[in-house]
Amino acid sequence: MHQSKTVAQIIADMEAAPGETMWAKRVRYLNPHHFVELGTGDGASGIAIMAALPEGSRFTTIDCRNIFGKVFAPWADDRRLRIVAGDTIDHSTPRQFDADIDLLYIDTHHVAWHAATELRMWQAKMVDGALVIVDDLHQNDMKLFWESIPYDKQRCMMNQGIFRYDAGKPYTEHFARPENPQLYSAWYSKGN
Ligand SMILES: C[S@@+](CC[C@H](N)C(=O)[O-])C[C@H]1O[C@@H](n2cnc3c(N)ncnc32)[C@H](O)[C@@H]1O
Repeated sequence: MHQSKTVAQIIADMEAAPGETMWAKRVRYLNPHHFVELGTGDGASGIAIMAALPEGSRFTTIDCRNIFGKVFAPWADDRRLRIVAGDTIDHSTPRQFDADIDLLYIDTHHVAWHAATELRMWQAKMVDGALVIVDDLHQNDMKLFWESIPYDKQRCMMNQGIFRYDAGKPYTEHFARPENPQLYSAWYSKGN
């Protein structure tokens, strides 16, 4: 996926690319083979992604809560879309995947230990040179996660960052799961 370009160049090119939304610009420019989103939420990103997804791409979105509702109804019969109810940091979830992910969006629990756990677990399912978008780097201790990324990386709009995974340098960082409940997302602190 644009292997000859730096992440900074890719971000600049994506921003200049045609498309009505940020996600439309991204998916049309990147033309991913398999785009996986960790954290569906209410489907806001997923809808924008599906609305612009190229014909030859696939999109999988994963959430541990059954909150998919009817948002994806327009794509109910679309073979490009896969919706998975599962925990992104439970080994049984990545085990359901082939190692073909070339675009990963990390947008679940915005704390360093969780994001690092996801990257350690999901890297085996990513192709070498895959691009990874990380959301909400301003939240909690996500700055530590971002600083631990040893790959070509660049911050971009909306407190996000993008890096290019290098399979020759597997990600190994661990962060302690904090005792402080303030560092847990609203979802966790509600006792889920
Ligand atoms: C910020 S929302 C996702 C927003 C969505 N990506 C968007 O941009 O519209 C985060 C979601 O991650 C889910 N989540 C948090 N931890 C998770 C985990 N370990 N496994 C699966 N889903 C998780 C939550 O249930 C929540 O719906």
